[in-house]
Amino acid sequence: MSERVEIVEVGPRDGLQNEARAISVTEKVRLVDALSLVGFRRIEVASFVSEKWVPQMAGSGEVLGAITRVSGVRYGALVPNMRGLEAALKAGADEVAVFASASEGFSQANINASIAESLERFRPVLARAREVGVPVRGYVSCVTDCPYDGLVAPEAVARVAGELRTMGCFEVSLGDTLGRAAPERVDAMLGAVLERVEARALAGHFHDSFGRALENVSVALGRGVRVFDASVAGLGGCPYAPGAAGNVSSESLAAFLEAAGFEHGLEIERLRAAADVAVGLWEADG
Ligand code: HMG
Ligand code: MG
Repeated sequence: MSERVEIVEVGPRDGLQNEARAISVTEKVRLVDALSLVGFRRIEVASFVSEKWVPQMAGSGEVLGAITRVSGVRYGALVPNMRGLEAALKAGADEVAVFASASEGFSQANINASIAESLERFRPVLARAREVGVPVRGYVSCVTDCPYDGLVAPEAVARVAGELRTMGCFEVSLGDTLGRAAPERVDAMLGAVLERVEARALAGHFHDSFGRALENVSVALGRGVRVFDASVAGLGGCPYAPGAAGNVSSESLAAFLEAAGFEHGLEIERLRAAADVAVGLWEADG
């Protein structure tokens, strides 16, 4: 039997947070419900951040309340602080994610805090989540390139990833936020991170602005990473990373993994149907 690689679907969060128009709760729910049938074990569907900072994620609690939950699927949400965590727990998130940056410029622009301040903010979040038995993922953004600070040193990524893991994150997702990473820089970054975090606790999160995301997935597979984030129909970007395109699409990642001899466990026809729902959101965009 071929080796399993997990695709974590992040389109309803990373994708929709960057849409120009306001997407209704009903539309978000339709997308999540279509994705729930595909075979993903985890879908990131919500973000409990300030509505002033990211208005597109307003209504996240309602989304979690209205989706048709499929057993075996964990529905996740981003939480930047204790307030976000409490809202996520109230809404019934199965998993939450804190998000830090390897670069100071992006940390300030995205969450209005230095890296050190953000890590301090996450400590009580991890403690409370542990108390109630909710797993916490940690993101590190700008793992090779930052829109404000330029190139990011591998050691800076390793430090933040190591801290998140030590703090209790079960998994650290490494984000090429800009979709600009050159594969050799991803390899060097992973070399440094693997000194502090084991491969089984890492995920790759590659945006695809310059069409190199799959090359970067390939490099990460070679380093032993077996979890990758992707967005249905390649939805997405980050409002605080100007010029960044969506994540690698779930469809192209699934096809790529299949060709490379890995099992992903997704039903491709259902994934296509979910991609049609996502494309419908763009078309409604006009
Ligand atoms: P702040 O202005 O420094 O903090 O924002 P604040 O405590 O002064 O709060 C500002 C306002 O937000 C206040 O409201 C708070 O009550 C409210 P006001 O008094 O002005 O009416 N507030 C909240 N509201 C709802 N939920 C909360 C919450 N906390 C405070 N949890 C803050 C700090 C972190 C809140 C803000 O900077 C923020 O929300 N940032 C989120 C940015 C974001 O969501 N970015 C996109 C996600 S990250 C990403 O996409 C990267 C990733 O995909 C990986 C990759 O690609 O690299 C994960
Ligand atoms: Mg992202």
